[in-house]
Amino acid sequence: MLIAQISDTHIAAADKQTYGIVPMAENLARCVAHINGLIPKPDLVLITGDVANDWCIDQTLRAKSILDGLDCPYYIIPGNHDDRGHIWDVFGGKACPERVDGFINYVIDGYPIRMIGIDTLETGESGGVLCATRLAWIKERLAEDQQTPTLLFMHHPPLKLGIPETDVDGFVGSDELGALIADCGNIKRVLCGHIHLLTHTLWNGTIVTTAPSMGMQLALDLTQEKPSKFLKTKPGYLLHHLTGGGHLVTHSILVDGNVTRYEFAEHN
Ligand SMILES: [Fe+2]
Ligand SMILES: [Fe+2]
Repeated sequence: MLIAQISDTHIAAADKQTYGIVPMAENLARCVAHINGLIPKPDLVLITGDVANDWCIDQTLRAKSILDGLDCPYYIIPGNHDDRGHIWDVFGGKACPERVDGFINYVIDGYPIRMIGIDTLETGESGGVLCATRLAWIKERLAEDQQTPTLLFMHHPPLKLGIPETDVDGFVGSDELGALIADCGNIKRVLCGHIHLLTHTLWNGTIVTTAPSMGMQLALDLTQEKPSKFLKTKPGYLLHHLTGGGHLVTHSILVDGNVTRYEFAEHN
């Protein structure tokens, strides 16, 4: 099984670039074309939030017009730059199969990996929130199946990753989520976005992976002084490959039209 993950597309209004400088719609179109050209083809694409840049429905519709070019099914959960109502109005019933208690929480079944989409958006907040209602839903879904390999996907990473820019946002309910995950033995991964950097961190017996940016990479500053800059980069996405051996292996894909292939040869 092959799962592509796109995150933080931050699409601007028509004919506009994000923050006036980053061609995120073009970047997304390039990723869509790249994913469509993969052999073997992915089974599906997960999009881990911040679809729009400014909570606008026209930006959300523009994202849909590009994402509909994917040859495979795609699924979306909202991020803090999204309006939940707009995400549901544009993607509800297909890319967002279900809405529970007003939250875009759903399960994707029918594949070798069970996938649980989790809505961590709290309107008006930058950080993640899992309230009692959402935690109860997650607890029920995890209890339903403790055998099938499972991944969770959501916008906000549930732990501080040493990146001040996003650590400051926080995550209400992360301890409770961690306890639920620690009680399961079948959680292969928690897939997130939000920080615009590729990271992998062991957490409560699983691995939390955050996706790289789509061309708006966060400037890495490990001095713990809050950085405020993004880097305009080539777009990238992740490919999660469930191997025949049952391991979920993550590949980072940089979409770059300027690649030279060469033969690897032994040197005597
Ligand atoms: Fe983002
Ligand atoms: Fe975000």
